[in-house]
Amino acid sequence: MPIQYHSSTKTFHLYNDSISYIFMILENGTPGQLYYGSRLSDKEDFSELLEMKRRANAPCTYEGNLLFSLEHLKQEYPLYGHGDLRYPACSIQKENGSHIFEFQYVSHSIYKGKNRIKGLPAIWCENSDDMESLEVVLEDQRTDTQLTLYYTICTHLPVIARHALILHNGHSSITLQRMMSCNVDLIDDAWDMIQLSGAWSRERHVSSTPLRPGVQSVYSMRGHSSAQFNPFLALKRKECSETAGECMGFTLLYSGSYLAQVEVDNYHVSRVQLGIHPDCFEWTLQQGESFETPEAVYVYSEHGLNGMSQAFHTLFNHHLVRGTYRLQDRPILINNWEATYFDFDEEKIVRIAETAAKAGIELFVLDDGWFGNRNDDHRGLGDWYANVSKLPHGIAGLSERIHAIGMKFGLWIEPEMVNMDSDLYRAHPDWVMIDPDYVPCHGRNQYVLDFSRREVVDHIFNMLDHVLDGADVNYIKWDMNRTMSEVYSRSHSSDRQGRVMHEYILGVYDLYERLMQKYPDILFESCASGGSRFDAGMLYYAPQAWTSDNSDAIERLKIQYGTSFVYPPSCMGAHVSAVPNHQVFRNTPLNTRANVAFYGAFGYELDLSKLSDEEKEEVRQQVAFMKKYRHVFQYGTFYRLSSPFESNETVWMSVSEDRSTAIVGYYRVLNEVNVGYRRVRLAGLDENAVYTINGTDQATDGRELMKAGLVISDYTSGENGETYNGRNGDFISRLYVLES
Ligand code: DGJ
Repeated sequence: MPIQYHSSTKTFHLYNDSISYIFMILENGTPGQLYYGSRLSDKEDFSELLEMKRRANAPCTYEGNLLFSLEHLKQEYPLYGHGDLRYPACSIQKENGSHIFEFQYVSHSIYKGKNRIKGLPAIWCENSDDMESLEVVLEDQRTDTQLTLYYTICTHLPVIARHALILHNGHSSITLQRMMSCNVDLIDDAWDMIQLSGAWSRERHVSSTPLRPGVQSVYSMRGHSSAQFNPFLALKRKECSETAGECMGFTLLYSGSYLAQVEVDNYHVSRVQLGIHPDCFEWTLQQGESFETPEAVYVYSEHGLNGMSQAFHTLFNHHLVRGTYRLQDRPILINNWEATYFDFDEEKIVRIAETAAKAGIELFVLDDGWFGNRNDDHRGLGDWYANVSKLPHGIAGLSERIHAIGMKFGLWIEPEMVNMDSDLYRAHPDWVMIDPDYVPCHGRNQYVLDFSRREVVDHIFNMLDHVLDGADVNYIKWDMNRTMSEVYSRSHSSDRQGRVMHEYILGVYDLYERLMQKYPDILFESCASGGSRFDAGMLYYAPQAWTSDNSDAIERLKIQYGTSFVYPPSCMGAHVSAVPNHQVFRNTPLNTRANVAFYGAFGYELDLSKLSDEEKEEVRQQVAFMKKYRHVFQYGTFYRLSSPFESNETVWMSVSEDRSTAIVGYYRVLNEVNVGYRRVRLAGLDENAVYTINGTDQATDGRELMKAGLVISDYTSGENGETYNGRNGDFISRLYVLES
């Protein structure tokens, strides 16, 4: 049993082969944290891990006892009051203005498998042997309020999932002002915190800094999880590398405004919390009402950062993504956005699709501009019916033509937004989230629809349903191109405005769920100006996400490298685009563009008919190569070997499940003259197997490749009379296909 309850000590031990998570019910009836880390042997009593020392000025719980102080005890779900002076997991106000609550243990249950969370994303299992769950019910008797802490441990993965639910049974109302999904008090602060931050087109760059006393955090108050700070943080020991050492990663399965913070107290305890951002949240509960938080996931690794990432990847591929495309190879697509922007008609689209079909590409995606009066980004959003001046036969007619040339058909939508110049806005101006007393901000000339209102979500569903019902659509790219700046719902009373941001995201999840249920074979790809809503919550609905609007191969090294800390290659939309690149104007070789994009949900984003015959042939070969190896690229075990943030050379690799095939991607940004010799130690191979490299006679055993390394030196000497041939110089790359 991975979850044990030891009644004599009131101790819970969640464990599997690799991790242990231990807490106990303290003397005052509240749960106290004892340990989280590498697996410990189970036993009845872990109370030696409950450290209490007499500290000056501490608020103490019991008369005559100077040891028991919540200021210094490690806790599971701390509250304000009763002496804990650090950030609480939960802050609730009573009608009398007091924030003092005390949730004490009442009961618990342990069961196999895991329950889903209504209306929210959550990890799940088909086979109940894969997970075991614990619910601990606590109660504040004075207000008749229950708090349930939910825990799930995966049987075969170093993963714990947590969330909380509060149920109010008392007569007078209570107001939640902070309700985090989880809290863990770690015993020390000797960690570096890694975060994935950036901006539009520079998403999820890796940065790392030692923890220091006080609060450090990543967050979003933008209404989506954001390109600025991904909802993830990792703690790693100083000596932890990609391949060895201790680290832990935390993420939130949520797509709205969030907070993930580490608070280091003055005795070096590190308190980690993740949840809905409290500054964007206030939720009043009347008698009989409840509130459930999103789910947080913890991963622990003793095998370096790659070990942490691989656990996230396996978890998400197997136990988060749902539907027809779960664990399936993703179709190779061509998207017309960078090929045409808004300037297209049916004939132009069919021409691009025909050239793509000849190259073996499987799915054509029609991007922005097909609907309403959408000829530029000032108008049309909200009018989800075909623009017949561009598409005289509508979406049904176009999808028929695309299918006739042997491709699947996909469509772009941006259902959460509206332009003021649209039929939808003219009919329902109050559906926009603004405070009408002030001039609202626009973002890309558009406004956010109030998805906290059921009738708005219903209306958009009906419009989209009408399009999808009448046409054979196999894929949807769901975009979201602005942040929320004036969060105010004209349908909510003043005491319910604090719900709006969270209810908005529940509305988004609801629309996804309804479309998924009605159209189970559609592959959804989420997008938010590129990767502004690239989070685990979205993956529950959309198995892949557009990683970034930046499609330059060299920029993508950093973006995809950072993204891989949490998210698997199967979900990273990655396309070959034209040169000079549209974002950074860089010219990179066609093979480098593909060699980067192969490690993801692969596609093209250019007008292939504009390529030379040789380039078209190269594309045809790339597509054939991807078809042969895409399962390894998308679902193989992914290893980061050399970081673009630290080196001129990036190296990563994917290894098939049976370790018979591995593909190493090597990328060099700038060429240098006369540099030293260079080898890369590979990882994850079968050390006894003999691998051929790129189908040549060169055969090397796995041990040599992992210990002595793969020789990659080929620098320009400057004296050999070499000339530029398109495959040397700057921005070169190579793939090494290893087969045993
Ligand atoms: C932003 C997306 O990230 C792009 O790929 C494209 O779909 C545009 N929106 C269309 O407006």
